[in-house]
Amino acid sequence: MQNRQHQLLNRLNHHQDKVPPFRAVASGQLVRVVGLTLEASGCRAPVGSLCSIETMAGELIAEVVGFDGELLYLMPIEELRGVLPGARVVPLGEQTGLNVGLSLLGRVLDGNGVPLDGLGALQTDQQAPRHSAAINPLSRRAITEPLDVGVRAINAMLTVGKGQRMGLFAGSGVGKSVLLGMMTRGTTADIIVVGLVGERGREVKEFIEEILGDKGRARSVVVAAPADTSPLMRLRACETSTRIAEYFRDLGYNVLLLMDSLTRYAQAQREIALAVGEPPATKGYPPSVFAKLPRLVERAGNGGPGQGSITAFYTVLTEGDDQQDPIADASRAILDGHIVLSRSLADSGHYPAIDIEASISRVAPMVISNEHLEAMRRVKQTYSLYQQNRDLISIGAYAQGSDPRIDNAIRLQPAMNAFLRQTMLDAFSFTDSQVMLGQLAAQCK
Ligand SMILES: Nc1ncnc2c1ncn2[C@@H]1O[C@H](COP(=O)(O)OP(=O)(O)OP(=O)(O)O)[C@@H](O)[C@H]1O
Ligand SMILES: [Mg+2]
Repeated sequence: MQNRQHQLLNRLNHHQDKVPPFRAVASGQLVRVVGLTLEASGCRAPVGSLCSIETMAGELIAEVVGFDGELLYLMPIEELRGVLPGARVVPLGEQTGLNVGLSLLGRVLDGNGVPLDGLGALQTDQQAPRHSAAINPLSRRAITEPLDVGVRAINAMLTVGKGQRMGLFAGSGVGKSVLLGMMTRGTTADIIVVGLVGERGREVKEFIEEILGDKGRARSVVVAAPADTSPLMRLRACETSTRIAEYFRDLGYNVLLLMDSLTRYAQAQREIALAVGEPPATKGYPPSVFAKLPRLVERAGNGGPGQGSITAFYTVLTEGDDQQDPIADASRAILDGHIVLSRSLADSGHYPAIDIEASISRVAPMVISNEHLEAMRRVKQTYSLYQQNRDLISIGAYAQGSDPRIDNAIRLQPAMNAFLRQTMLDAFSFTDSQVMLGQLAAQCK
């Protein structure tokens, strides 16, 4: 008995990706449609597999998202249209793999990995399984090297390590997408994978044409599922972009994964879970949302020996600039640092609107030199000193000469702001950022 248990556990540990084939029952029929949930009876298919449903216009592909006794709950991947009572439901068996290869670079895909850009089919005969096995935490390489993201305020003050997972926290319209775009142009990462999930459709085009540009696009893969796609398609877009990043990491590349946004991923999972009857828990989010978030995020990071890295940025919407949102809370706990964008900085035209005091990169001390760390600490202290006394200074209640440190902070304020600001088209290398930080720190007393 113990032996059998041992065997099963071993299989779990080593062969998570090899799911044995299941025996699908030929076909069933549709018995009920409630909102976006379809209920079918008479067929047997595992959760996560696809079924084809007969419609007036042909067929519709749906994914099995749950079951209750003999009833299967399905959700359409495409638009739900033309389904009839009693329509035939045919399980499609195992899902096909994801097309991968270097020909993905420069392409725009939908959540399923199918090209959206009208440039024809992907020129590749390689496929990767859609689900990857989790990396054993003990065989992951540690984070030891910085990644140049081309943004001076981040390179200097919030240094990101290769394999780090960062959150970009902000309300709407504060400059998240523009900041991600600046990184795509300025980073030294080999390959960039961008997941645009739950955005307005117009923004997807804007991001690709204006923000990414030709230079950024040549080494990027974009996976887009705008707000009007089904919740399943949005979930899949996050998973597909992560899977593509994993594929390149396993080949040895340093990948930058930009996911805009993690909140929309959580909301898509909430839509699905509530539709199949999972009870809501925190602010309407069912527990499965909080189980799925770390599973997605944990897939980024460094690979094992001989593999590359996935450095990831996930944007997190803080509704009404509320930092206590449950998704923001959960994300902060599972990520290795967060960059907070401030609306008041953006309103005053300070871009990128990074709130240096509220942001932190937990791995920075592990990837930078002692001199860099010391310079960072000095600039941060001087910056904070000004912020703490800002109200007094602005109403004229501070008398110059009362405290030489505050006098110095006031004198350096314009230089610090200029250092933290950057126009959309500029890029500053890691070394340049470091040198400029050193010059600024030398003036901090
Ligand atoms: N570095 C920058 N320099 C100048 N302007 C900027 C910069 N970053 C952002 N902006 C301005 O802020 C606006 C909003 O930026 P962006 O679309 O990136 O915000 P967002 O946070 O992604 O918004 P949403 O929540 O709607 O997706 C831009 O249209 C631009 O005018
Ligand atoms: Mg945006």
